[in-house]
Amino acid sequence: MKSIHSFSLRFVVDQQVEDIEMPENLKLNTFLQEFHSDCPHPECGFGFYGFAFGQSPFPVPKMIQEALIKNVDKGAYAAVPGISELRSAISKYNKHYFGIDVSPDRIYVGPGTKELIFNLLEILHGTVILPTPAWLGYLPQIRFLKKNYHMLPTRANRKISPRDLKKLALRLQDRQKILILNNPHNPTGLLYAKTELEEITDVCRELNITVIADEIYAQTTYDFTKFVSMGKIYPEGTFVTNGLSKSHAAGGYRLGYVVFPQHAVDLKLQFKKILATEYTAVSTPIQHAAVPGFEISDEMDEYFEITRNIHKIMGEYTYNALTAIDGIKATKPEATFYLLADFNAYAPELQKAKITSSQKLSETLIVHPYHTAIVGGDSLVLERTDFSARIAYVDYDGAKVYRKYKEHKPRTSSEKIEFVRNNAPKVVSGIQMIENFFEKLKKDAVDELMIMKESLKITN
Ligand SMILES: Cc1ncc(COP(=O)(O)O)c(C=O)c1O
Repeated sequence: MKSIHSFSLRFVVDQQVEDIEMPENLKLNTFLQEFHSDCPHPECGFGFYGFAFGQSPFPVPKMIQEALIKNVDKGAYAAVPGISELRSAISKYNKHYFGIDVSPDRIYVGPGTKELIFNLLEILHGTVILPTPAWLGYLPQIRFLKKNYHMLPTRANRKISPRDLKKLALRLQDRQKILILNNPHNPTGLLYAKTELEEITDVCRELNITVIADEIYAQTTYDFTKFVSMGKIYPEGTFVTNGLSKSHAAGGYRLGYVVFPQHAVDLKLQFKKILATEYTAVSTPIQHAAVPGFEISDEMDEYFEITRNIHKIMGEYTYNALTAIDGIKATKPEATFYLLADFNAYAPELQKAKITSSQKLSETLIVHPYHTAIVGGDSLVLERTDFSARIAYVDYDGAKVYRKYKEHKPRTSSEKIEFVRNNAPKVVSGIQMIENFFEKLKKDAVDELMIMKESLKITN
């Protein structure tokens, strides 16, 4: 009899899965793990300066944790669109914070907005317009679903140009187009003003463009009075997605929601069918846990305010420190915990050092002696040779920093700098590493030039 070990089964994977690439965040994880176990230098023991992971560092709000504990006995399946207490809380949350009047029956709860965006792309016919740079999650989904898509590169201000949007949409044959509008924006940290959203809406109305407005970072807007939801400006054509992951530091809970446009009755039925087919409903205890996170309370208000203030302090520090380095530019974040750094001024030196793509740049920065993890431009749907990178300024102990901020709120700019130096030393040292890297690059290029000049003198 053949032993079970000598019998090897060959599994055949569907072509459409073979065709998609590993999502960039997983690639990055694997790369960092491999780098870590392979690095022979003792300095590698401490890990790395982590500017790569887009995760809020704060503890999950107490009320959510307690509600989860209280509801562990809820073993029954929930209704497909979500439990009514949660949909009702999300409806009031939208009214209170974003000024959008949505009845609970326009709200669908799903296991994270990533999944909900995928579900929307599944039901919506049409060509997808993806402004770039973009969050690394959209493109693999679009490719997996074999949808037609077009990139919409942004200009120097890194925001969608309504004129470019119109030009592109006029060229597309599909009667429906889908614009992915991420606001506030990952990776730039930029925020669209009301007038900018209105100009985009004019084009969308004229050319029948449906919008998926990914507003997962809405609550992180530093000056919250400036945040305007696309659901308010273009209510008949926008699907707004949001959830617990960033504002409530609970990405691992896997809970998001989508607000459907007004008058989308037929579409809601189609959507429900998809959710029922794919995952039935989000875990019932998690849905109960999320309820206090969306209810209006002083506790949540305080949590949002403190966390967004800390993101702002870290963001200002990172922006100022990076742009103080010769040749480095960056977007000035108004929300989120990211900015887009632009190292393109160093392109000649990078090329000379055989660093010919943004991926190569991230790989060079992660290894000894820099130990610094960034997300390179090619993972942000930029050209491979665009030496830009996303810098996430969250490498600190969120529970400790939250406590320290509550004990003593830094007010002046020097207090804020002190706050970062004392509480986020890895952010400070990581930026120093980036500076060291570019200093060395510059020096090597100058040295090489001198050697060339010397050898020319000798041969002459
Ligand atoms: C712009 C953007 N959209 C969506 C998501 C996914 O959020 P969720 O955890 O709700 O799936 C992320 C997470 O990094 C993100 O940055």
